Amino acid sequence: MRTTTEVQSVPPGPDAPAADQLGWFERNPFACVEEASRRYGTPFTLRLGSLGNESLVDVEHRGEWVFLTRPEQLQAMYTAPASMTSGAHANQVFFGTMEESVGYIDGRAHRRRRSQLHPAFSGNRDYVAIIAQAVDSHLAAWPRDTPFELFPALQELTSEVITEVVCGNFDAADRRALARLLPRTENARFTGDEMLAADDAVREFVAERMPGHLARSEALGRDDVLTSLLRHAAEGDGSLTDEVVRDEVFSLLYTGFSTTANTLAWAFVEVMHSERVQRALRAEVGGRFRHRPLAREEFGDLDYVDATVMEALRLHPVSALNGVRMVSEPLRIDDYLLPSGTILVHCAHVLQRSPDLYADPLGFSPERFLGKQPDQYVWGPFGGGTRTCVGRGYALAEMRMILAMAVSEIRLDPLGPVPRARQQGIFMGPADQARCLVRSLR
Ligand code: HEM
Repeated sequence: MRTTTEVQSVPPGPDAPAADQLGWFERNPFACVEEASRRYGTPFTLRLGSLGNESLVDVEHRGEWVFLTRPEQLQAMYTAPASMTSGAHANQVFFGTMEESVGYIDGRAHRRRRSQLHPAFSGNRDYVAIIAQAVDSHLAAWPRDTPFELFPALQELTSEVITEVVCGNFDAADRRALARLLPRTENARFTGDEMLAADDAVREFVAERMPGHLARSEALGRDDVLTSLLRHAAEGDGSLTDEVVRDEVFSLLYTGFSTTANTLAWAFVEVMHSERVQRALRAEVGGRFRHRPLAREEFGDLDYVDATVMEALRLHPVSALNGVRMVSEPLRIDDYLLPSGTILVHCAHVLQRSPDLYADPLGFSPERFLGKQPDQYVWGPFGGGTRTCVGRGYALAEMRMILAMAVSEIRLDPLGPVPRARQQGIFMGPADQARCLVRSLR
């Protein structure tokens, strides 16, 4: 029970100036959190200021980021009463934005926006035709038997799919142009300024095409996600101004392509390095996805494929900051009464490599998930609580389809060891761009 005399404090961490700590973190986020957890235990604190986003946000906070690496700590964070933490404030600082799309609002407005987005991304919508068509054309275009960068190719593929889902009623040339633009927002090839310019270009591209989109969709007799947001706005949801709809669409396009491309790249990298996993995948998938058209029911029974995606998400979460909350009222986690303005971090990278939670934690072993539904605080690549990733169902469905279809058509051979992770924009991708050789299986 909290009393007024209890001392508020944050867990241990380095004494170095905040700028040095941020430099350490930015150079290699995963190596930094691994080293900090070895040195300072759990939880630990890094002084990261506003992650370099000071000029972009005006959220008051302490600059102290408390990294949670144990299931019970996550439970305390994700189940804290709504009045005690703010996801919106923490996300604003993390992503350096003050916009009002779903990640950056709290309370009733947040609940309402999620309920508007949920139908499209719950995993219940049938996107098989969209995904199958994109996979067919991309797999056919990947060059065979010559060094190939798989990661950017997967970004192009997932960009095309999310563009079809969110803006599928744009005309064909616009959809192609948007899908080509998206990967420029997240790739180590580009400088930070180039990526920010690409963000603006995507927003502008969408905004220019919003007028008349609702009428166009009505004429076509089908909705895309942009249409459903415009419909909610027309039905009187005053929070959905044109600017907010544009930002929401941008955030869905951006998060939708980048996270799934990163995770798929890691899944393919690990698969190409393990003959055992390849054999098991092929035994499950065989040639069963070679006919066309494919139907949703045919993807119903893919336990090993699902376990492979889950294992990729365990070993390679997309970020060292897997879900963030700002403390709004002093909050107890373990022995610490954390002061308001502290930012809490779900650090899946450290947690999901803990030897007491996962046997052989650095090994890639989909078998560990076969027939098992892991505890939500032990396997949490999609965050948790009321802000659990909106795209979770869609992302899992898309990734299992892409992996299953690829396994039935091609084999990938590595051109080097499993690469280290490198920040490529906001998320962590394979440093060597997942270079490999693509071989046809037939
Ligand atoms: C491998 C795929 C993905 C991973 C690992 C992932 C991970 C995450 C994580 C860790 C969060 C933070 C949750 C929290 O704060 O508790 C999140 C939030 C979010 N994700 Fe995903 N995500 C993925 C795919 C997607 C896709 C495909 C979409 C949309 C098309 C999407 C849209 C969002 C949105 C809008 C939020 C903010 C939710 C909120 O604040 O209420 N994500 N995601």
